[in-house]
Amino acid sequence: MIAKNTRVVVLTGAGISAESGIRTFRASDGLWEEHRIEDVATPQGWRDNPQLVWSFYQQRRRQLLEVEPNPGHIALAELERYLDDFLLVTQNVDDLHERAGSNNLIHMHGELEKLRCEDCGHIEAMMDEEHLTDVFVACTNCGSRLRPHIVWFGEIPLQTHEIENALSQCDVFIAIGTSGHVYPASNYLHKASMHGARTICINLDPPENIEFFNDFFQGKSGELLPELVEQWIKDSTVE
Ligand code: OAD
Ligand code: ZN
Repeated sequence: MIAKNTRVVVLTGAGISAESGIRTFRASDGLWEEHRIEDVATPQGWRDNPQLVWSFYQQRRRQLLEVEPNPGHIALAELERYLDDFLLVTQNVDDLHERAGSNNLIHMHGELEKLRCEDCGHIEAMMDEEHLTDVFVACTNCGSRLRPHIVWFGEIPLQTHEIENALSQCDVFIAIGTSGHVYPASNYLHKASMHGARTICINLDPPENIEFFNDFFQGKSGELLPELVEQWIKDSTVE
């Protein structure tokens, strides 16, 4: 089903990191780690209470040091090594895909390891002990306060041109561990399918946009992906 020259775009969401111990966003109580999403993931939340937002993301940043990639991340890195044309788009802000060995990767919602200057726009990976406390960190370029390098609700996702370009040329689109609630990622399925791609979903629960996928594999990505990737690669090497 997937040959070496098949052009593949994969979109991942919080579900792929769930088995590494990182909580997903839309828990049944509508809260994210005991906070309302508006309070911790919007520019307004940052303006109203920067200390709360800062401490919230510092906790997420410290958590990165304690988690490891799971077999789902590893299987995607293996799929990438096998294919000529592969793009991984993630909504996740953790670094588990790169630690598993993924290379051609876009973090459309930002990255936890990086901080961004509110004044000069300087972006820097800062993960030393002194960068991980609840005290604000200053920009190494201009001295102003740094904010998390995260795309909050109401802000524009990163590298969408590159993503849409790949979607318009792909043969297979695979969405993994994403609930399909957040635009524009939720729309990538339609973009790919409009251009004739086969669309595949791997998710624990049926996502919002389930009826538009050609194939749906229900279950945990850490269990399903290693088997599926092995199958896809084996089928095509037999040809
Ligand atoms: P959600 O929390 O909305 O959805 C996670 C999905 O993963 C759900 O549909 C679960 O059924 C599924 N899931 C859970 N465990 C799984 C597992 N082990 N294997 C496979 N699937 C599993 O997360 P996202 O769709 O990623 O934005 O959320 C999108 C964006 O909303 C996030 O990037 C974040 C959030 O606000 C920002 O932080 C900017
Ligand atoms: Zn600066």
